[in-house]
Amino acid sequence: MPQQQGSSGAKPGKGLADVVAASTAISDIDGRAGVLSYRGYDIHDLAGAVSFEECAYLLHRGELPSRAELEAYATELSASRDTGPSVTAVLGASVAERPPMEALRTLVSALSADDPDTGSNDPEANARKAARLTAQMPVLVAAYQARRAGREVAPPDPELGIAGNFLLQITGERPDPTAVAMLDECLVLHADHTMNASTFAARVCAATLSDMHSAVTAAMGTLKGPLHGGANEQVMKMLTEIDERVGDGDAGARRDTAERYVRERLDAGAKIMGFGHRVYRTEDPRATHLRKMSESLGELSGDTRWYDMSAHMERTVFVVKGLRPNVDFYAASVYHYLGVPTDLFTPVFAVSRMSGWTAHVIEQHEDNRLIRPDSEYIGPSPRKPAPLGER
Ligand code: ACO
Repeated sequence: MPQQQGSSGAKPGKGLADVVAASTAISDIDGRAGVLSYRGYDIHDLAGAVSFEECAYLLHRGELPSRAELEAYATELSASRDTGPSVTAVLGASVAERPPMEALRTLVSALSADDPDTGSNDPEANARKAARLTAQMPVLVAAYQARRAGREVAPPDPELGIAGNFLLQITGERPDPTAVAMLDECLVLHADHTMNASTFAARVCAATLSDMHSAVTAAMGTLKGPLHGGANEQVMKMLTEIDERVGDGDAGARRDTAERYVRERLDAGAKIMGFGHRVYRTEDPRATHLRKMSESLGELSGDTRWYDMSAHMERTVFVVKGLRPNVDFYAASVYHYLGVPTDLFTPVFAVSRMSGWTAHVIEQHEDNRLIRPDSEYIGPSPRKPAPLGER
């Protein structure tokens, strides 16, 4: 009997839509109200108010840190940055020539070789590994970037936190405080998001009682896809294409070209990356912050092009399809304004989401049961194999 189809043409339940796959105390989304919270704190109250380090502590350890706890955690993070000789060896091989997310997936996996807690899923070992992986992820991206640029990674500045040192190390230049604050806010906004595809992948892996490094390697491979973390890079490619079409045109030409571009793509049945969401039925609360950041970075830089084109695209997609931007849409112009190379946009996402993935692995191991869903068989009816010569 044919299955009932949803408005999107997808069978009900396809892609596990609306299925509750796990219980979590880490983050929550109300998709209708457009609310995201981390351990009970609304993202609107966290963004711009707490640092990424405070946010990671909250995800890993359950509460926002006191000043003393934060200092101890920051010390633990900075002492954990060293990625070890195995990563250096792997990075020296052809891995450095692979595209960023492919290379970084391999490098994240290689981190386990020198981790003193490899092989233990004990709560204390998991807590240490979660902090270590959160500290190491930005260093991996910076090491990869330095290697392909043929330069040394700049030594970290003890005055800077994860966001500041990350900008310092990927650009090789001392970042200005506004850029650091903006990136810090981006890292908070991307840190966790309930049962998104990469977190689910990490939890499925962890639920076999595999280790944290294996789980985050699975998550890296999952984040890489253009329907998930890879969308931000695709957004920048669209903006660049529109900009090239505009050429020397004025603001009006930019608006018209952005609108035409969106309509052409939608008419051709293509998706516009950075729009739509499985859970949100209203504005993605993270997009609210990123839109504002994009606008103010445009004004500060004196080049509002990228924000303007994004805003024109947003209006047209909403008029034609009724879709709103997700976290990836304005993140693209924000990262571009911050000087992040386009192909490192998804790695920046991973720098942040490492804190969420590792928190979920801790949670999964604390109260584990193998994750093993069922499937609906749609293949041939039972039959017998004919001998090789008779097929
Ligand atoms: N552009 C155009 N149409 C879209 C878009 C889009 N970005 N997103 C959804 N639609 C349309 C679909 O074509 C479909 O239309 P139909 O009903 O006429 O067939 C309908 O909306 C439902 O779309 P699905 O892809 O079935 O929705 P689903 O919940 O499975 O997917 C997803 C959600 C993957 C985010 C989707 O909106 C999409 O592909 N967006 C673009 C990629 C993207 O931005 N990904 C980042 C998501 S956020 C994150 O992972 C960090």
